[in-house]
Formats: sequence, C-alpha cells, structure tokens
Amino acid sequence: MIVELPPTLYDDAVALWHAVGLTRPWNDPMTDLLRAVEGPSSTVLAMVADDVLVGTAMVGTDGHRAWMYYVAVDPAAQGAGHGRALVHACEDWARAHGAPKVMLMVRTTNAAVLSFYASLGYEVNEVATLGKFLS
Ligand SMILES: CC(C)(COP(=O)(O)OP(=O)(O)OC[C@H]1O[C@@H](n2cnc3c(N)ncnc32)[C@H](O)[C@@H]1OP(=O)(O)O)[C@@H](O)C(=O)NCCC(=O)NCCS
Repeated sequence: MIVELPPTLYDDAVALWHAVGLTRPWNDPMTDLLRAVEGPSSTVLAMVADDVLVGTAMVGTDGHRAWMYYVAVDPAAQGAGHGRALVHACEDWARAHGAPKVMLMVRTTNAAVLSFYASLGYEVNEVATLGKFLS
C-alpha cells in the first residue's frame, strides 16, 4: 500500500535513507522530510506493509516540472517491484499536480542505479546540474 508518509514513520524513513546511503553530511534528512511534507507542492510517499515502512519516495513540483528524491526500498525488500511501484506513484502524483515531466538526479557514485530508472523509461539528459547553497 502506498500512502503519504504518516508522522509515526518519519524516524523510520530517515533511518532507511541512512541505511541505503542516500544521506550526506550537508543535508539533514529530517529537515528535508519536514520541508517536503509541510510544503504545499511536495510530499513523501511511503510503501507500507503491516504498519512497517518498506520504501519511500519524495516528490514535488517546482512550477515547471516534478522532481523525485529519496527513492529508497528496504534492502530486505528490494527486487520485488516496490521501487517501480513507488516511482509510478510519484508519476501519478506529478500528473495529478499538472507536471508534464518527472526528473531526478543520480549521484555519479550511484551509477549502478541508472539501470533501474532505464527499466522504467527514464533517459539520461545531457545536462550539467548546477547548485548553490543559499545562506
Ligand atoms: C533503486 C531501488 C529503489 C530499486 O528498488 P527495488 O524495489 O529493488 O526495485 P524493483 O524491484 O522495483 O525493480 C524494478 C526494475 O529495476 C531493476 N533494478 C532494480 N534495482 C536495480 C539495480 N540496482 N540495477 C539494475 N537494475 C535494477 C529490476 O530488476 C526491475 O527490472 P524489471 O522491471 O525488468 O524486472 C533500491 O535498489 C534502493 O533503495 N537502492 C538504494 C537507494 C538508491 O540508490 N535510490 C535511488 C537514488 S537516485
């Protein structure tokens, strides 16, 4: 079952993101989570089975496109189609919010996961992503 992440599972979501290596010292994952669930144009979707968190995906729109972050499945439950279901749920959310395209960034250190997205119809866009932290 995929639902909006309930507050009772916020800590489990952060623990999952740490466990699968999606966190970085410069991003506080709980702050990221709260910003996404409290904002008007984003959410965190959760795959839940018997009240246990199986996977997550953050999705939001920026007024132009939708973006996915923190796509993660519990290592013990990977390879069973949950990741695909979560990405499809993000696509449904994006459609429902008027976004014509869904995007995501993959760290160069996580290139192995590109096959997962390729199997879901995602293509590598030949662009450099630039960023700047705002103080
Ligand atoms: C990437 C991730 C979410 C995939 O979740 P999953 O539940 O294992 O994936 P699924 O079982 O839905 O797999 C869907 C398809 O992708 C393929 N696939 C899944 N993981 C793959 C991988 N690492 N490499 C290649 N193919 C992969 C599956 O074989 C399947 O193909 P099929 O449709 O032909 O059967 C999961 O491996 C994960 O949490 N990884 C760590 C966190 C991460 O890197 N997230 C992505 C950040 S950009």
